Amino acid sequence: MCGIVGYKGSQNAIPVLISGLESLEYRGYDSAGVAFKSGKKIEIVKNIGKVSNLKSLLNDDANSEIGIAHTRWATHGKVSVENAHPHKVGKITIVHNGIIENYASLKIELEQKGYEFQSQTDTEILCALINDLYETENNLLIAINKMTKLVHGSYALLIMCDDNLNELYAIRCNSPLIVAIKDNDYFLASDVPAILKYTNEYILLENNEIIKVDDKLHIYDESLKEINKQTIIFDGDSNDAMKNGYEHYMLKEINEEPTVVKNILDYYTSDGKFNDNMPSFKKYKKIFIVGCGSACYTADISKSLFEKYLNIPVTVYIASEYRYQQLFYDKDTLVIFISQSGETADTLEALRRTKNDGIDTLAIVNVVSSSIAREADQVLYIKAGVEIAVATTKAFTAQLTMLALLVLRMANKENELKYFEDLSNELNKILKMDFKKYAKKIYKHENAFFIGRGIDYGLCEEGSLKLKEISYINSSAFPSGELKHGTISLITEDTPVISIVSDENIKYKTISNIKEVHARGAYVLWLTNKDENGDFYDDKIVIRDIHEIVNSILMVMPLQLIAYEVAYLRELDIDKPRNLAKSVTVE
Ligand code: AGP
Repeated sequence: MCGIVGYKGSQNAIPVLISGLESLEYRGYDSAGVAFKSGKKIEIVKNIGKVSNLKSLLNDDANSEIGIAHTRWATHGKVSVENAHPHKVGKITIVHNGIIENYASLKIELEQKGYEFQSQTDTEILCALINDLYETENNLLIAINKMTKLVHGSYALLIMCDDNLNELYAIRCNSPLIVAIKDNDYFLASDVPAILKYTNEYILLENNEIIKVDDKLHIYDESLKEINKQTIIFDGDSNDAMKNGYEHYMLKEINEEPTVVKNILDYYTSDGKFNDNMPSFKKYKKIFIVGCGSACYTADISKSLFEKYLNIPVTVYIASEYRYQQLFYDKDTLVIFISQSGETADTLEALRRTKNDGIDTLAIVNVVSSSIAREADQVLYIKAGVEIAVATTKAFTAQLTMLALLVLRMANKENELKYFEDLSNELNKILKMDFKKYAKKIYKHENAFFIGRGIDYGLCEEGSLKLKEISYINSSAFPSGELKHGTISLITEDTPVISIVSDENIKYKTISNIKEVHARGAYVLWLTNKDENGDFYDDKIVIRDIHEIVNSILMVMPLQLIAYEVAYLRELDIDKPRNLAKSVTVE
């Protein structure tokens, strides 16, 4: 997610803005920029990469008492200096966090008025709109207020104007923005960490309230009436701040999944079709998919979709095994490497072996410019933002979404993009469901089993790992037909068995297996999108059945939330489980 920082006050604004950006780096970004009053004009400096790259372009003696700054997580348009913020059109300079949904129609209207655009961003179009309204109204407050009536989407905006170099304006709608005051210093930011260095008192803005900072702070409601607002005191450290009020990063990151899925769709598709951000691919005769842990399970889940849509064999490899196996690949093989961190040593070495053999490689990665992203022939970023909890959740869901989009791209089936439209809404509905009641029946046990077939078995693998790695319950995933070949001996009274059915073709086979464990006293929690009643389960969770291309993306969230609630009841360190690292950079 983008980060924005604004400052006006008695200090040199530039170090304040830079340190503010650095405190927001956890939000994930791929470029950064700053705009500040310099003499009688606004100077803009921006660069791709880390904030340190931006700092390298700033003169050591750069000094100003007012400015705005931004870290960009690309949504519209590639990572480039042109697309980095701040953007300036006419007299208006802005930084923006959010997505303008009707940017295309606004662009046409503005081009008809003679505006020309240098970037691929929705933000530049928004900047031109505000400038156009300002030129008409000759009053920035009115112009900003009128903008809110013309724009659909989300925004947290900081605005400067050539005509009023000593004033800062700000407004938000569905993107976070706070304002803080310390003596005669005024701070605006996306998030609390950026101001904690100076104060823990801040004001939360409501949608479309406008801030104006001149010699003091003014807040206006939507009718442009000046109002007063209560300050909030943040009682915690910056680490707590970055959780946005959630008790754990893992829960925060699960709750970000609807937005993450929407960001992916907004970045790779436009108007129901793939856009230029989704490359085309040649026809391959076979595909290998390589990863570790959860990354590998996204491959197990997606394998059957690739095979069904492309009618080619897909082989999934655990990266640490892949490296030492005889591999039957050739110029008609594509090897896909999946990694949230982009630094997992086994996956990176597997990639390097494949590259050395001259085989085509594609990386599906979260962290921009990570090693795997840089070394693969092509990369598709999953744009999940920084994932801090060791147990992956939003990145996993993002990887599944990316793989499903890749299937449609390679199968030339973009007409099925329509099945993705309801995903964010359905994920939001799942977030409102109660999973604590199931966790209460699981958390006191030391063993648990997940059973399913085919695509559901891949979901079992991930559900089992999530539960295992944060609750320390000895959990195992089994193809449901396999349980009776030995492991069923471990099923005793109340042993938790989470059974998953999303595939109509194997529904009754799996239900037979569920009955086998239920008959032996297991506590069966049935996760399904087939609303079927019966006496073979103790509890049932029903998720909407949209279409096989997207159903797994919905089915995994309940597994993540069950694992979270079980670990919570066991009072464990959910974000940092013992022995685990977020990125395993050793082999
Ligand atoms: C997932 O919850 C685990 N933290 C672990 O399995 C992880 O998925 C694996 O180490 C791969 O990491 P990567 O995606 O960063 O390559």
